[in-house]
Amino acid sequence: RPELPTYKADQVEQHNCPENRIWVTYGLGVYDVTDFADNHPGGDKILMAAGSAIDPFWAIYQQHNTLEVLELLEGFRIGNLEGPLVASVDDELGSPWAQEPPRHALLKPASKRPFNAEPPIGLLAEQFYTPNELFYVRNHLPVPVISPEDYELEIEGGGKEQTLSLERIKALPKHSWSGARLCDLLRQQGVQPDEAKHVIFEGADLDPTSHPYGASIPLAKALDPRGDVILAYEMNDEPLSRDHGYPIRVIVPGTVGARNVKWLTRIVVADRESDSHWQQNDYKGFSPSTDWDTVDFGKSEAIQAMPVTSAICTPQAGSRVKVEQDEAKGEGEGHITVRGYAWSGGGRKIVRVDLTNDEGLSWHVAELEQEDSPDGRHYGWSLWTARLPVSQAQRRAGDVEIWAKAVDSAYNVQPEKFEHIWNLRGVLANAYHKVKVKIV
Ligand code: HEM
Repeated sequence: RPELPTYKADQVEQHNCPENRIWVTYGLGVYDVTDFADNHPGGDKILMAAGSAIDPFWAIYQQHNTLEVLELLEGFRIGNLEGPLVASVDDELGSPWAQEPPRHALLKPASKRPFNAEPPIGLLAEQFYTPNELFYVRNHLPVPVISPEDYELEIEGGGKEQTLSLERIKALPKHSWSGARLCDLLRQQGVQPDEAKHVIFEGADLDPTSHPYGASIPLAKALDPRGDVILAYEMNDEPLSRDHGYPIRVIVPGTVGARNVKWLTRIVVADRESDSHWQQNDYKGFSPSTDWDTVDFGKSEAIQAMPVTSAICTPQAGSRVKVEQDEAKGEGEGHITVRGYAWSGGGRKIVRVDLTNDEGLSWHVAELEQEDSPDGRHYGWSLWTARLPVSQAQRRAGDVEIWAKAVDSAYNVQPEKFEHIWNLRGVLANAYHKVKVKIV
C-alpha cells in the first residue's frame, strides 16, 4: 500500500491507549483499531498489543490466522511501518553482547542489556505452567557461551576441593524442577552441618572487571533435603535455555531470584556470605527515609525469602470492562470477573486472596488454583479468580479501582501503600496491586 503514509516504530508506540488511539502493526502494515477494540471477540486482550506488533500475539492465538480476520484488519490500515534500521554497534562481533540468545517477541524488555523482561501481564495468568519461552528473564550481565563438553563445576567444602563434569551431576538422583539435589552433592563431598554457615555460588557471567556474578544462601537451607535446593539442568522437561542458565543453574525455591545463580561454575562452603556486589551492596531493604547519603549496606540483611505478594492480571489497567448481568438480582446488578496470581517466599502457601472495588469497604475472597504441596515447601504460585459485584452507582460513575491483597500461611499480609515500604533500591515492592478500569 505505497499510497499510505510511513510511520516509525516510536510513532506507533505513542498510540497505546484509547485516549491516544490504539495503533498496532502487523508485518509492515500500521493499523488504527480504536473503534474495533470494544467489539473485539477476545476482549481487552487486544490492549496488550497497543502501540506494538500483533504478530507474536497471533502466533499464540491462532484463531486470527484466517482470511476473514486478515480482511477485517486490512480495513483498519492507516499506513506502512518504516523498515528496520542498521543493526546497533552492540551486535558487532567483539561486543560482550554479541552472543545473546534469541528471545520470544512477547518478552517485553525493561532493560535490553542486560536482558530483563517478562511477558505482558494479561497473558500471565492464562495457564498454571508458563511456557519456557515466555518465562520471565532476569540477567545482570551478558549471557555466557558454555559448551557442555567444557563445562566444569568446582566444589570446595568438607575439607576438600573437587571438579565435577556435567555427566557426574546428571548421574545423581534426578528431582522435580529437574536436577540434582544440592544436599546430595554436599553430602557426597563430606560437608558437615556445623562446618560453616553459608554456601557461596558463582556464575560464568562476568562483569567488566572479570568478576563473576555471585550470591550465597544459608548452609542449613542447602543441606536440608526439605530445603529442595536443586542444581537444575531441565525446565519443564526441556534442557535449560541459555537465558535461564545453561547448562546448570541453582534453584533455591522460596528464595529471591538473585540467589538462584545461573551458569553455575563454583560452590564454596564458607563462614562468610558471598562478597559479591549483589550479595553485599544490592538486594537489601531499607527504611523509606534512608537515602543515598545515609545508606549503610553493611548494616542491612541480604534478602533471602521474599514477602507475600499478588497481582491482578485481567482486566488490565485502563481497559473497559463489560459487567456480567446477574440473573437472580435486579436490573442493572452484575459483577466483573478478575483474575491474577499470588505468591509468598520461604515455601509459605497462599491461604487467601481478598479483593475490593470500593476502597476496602467490602472484600471478596477469590477462588484459588494451586499445587497440593505441604506448607513450608509450597513454592509454586497460586492463580486466583474472583467475582466482584458492581453496584448501579458504580456503573453510573463508570470508573472503578480494583485492589488485591494476598495472605500467606503465616498470616503475613501485603501492606496497603507503596509509600510506606519504598526503599532506595526499589526492592520488596509488595503493596496491594491497584488497577483502575472503566465499567461499561
Ligand atoms: C478472537 C480480531 C488482536 C486475542 C478474535 C476474533 C476476531 C479477532 C475476528 C474472533 C475469531 C474467531 O473466533 O473466529 C482481532 C483483530 C485484532 C486482534 C482485528 C487486531 C488488532 C488481538 C490481540 C490479541 C487477541 C492483540 C491478544 C493479545 C484474541 C483472543 C480471541 C480473539 C484470545 C478469542 C476469544 C474467544 O474465542 O473467546 N480476534 N484480534 N486479538 N482474539 Fe483477536
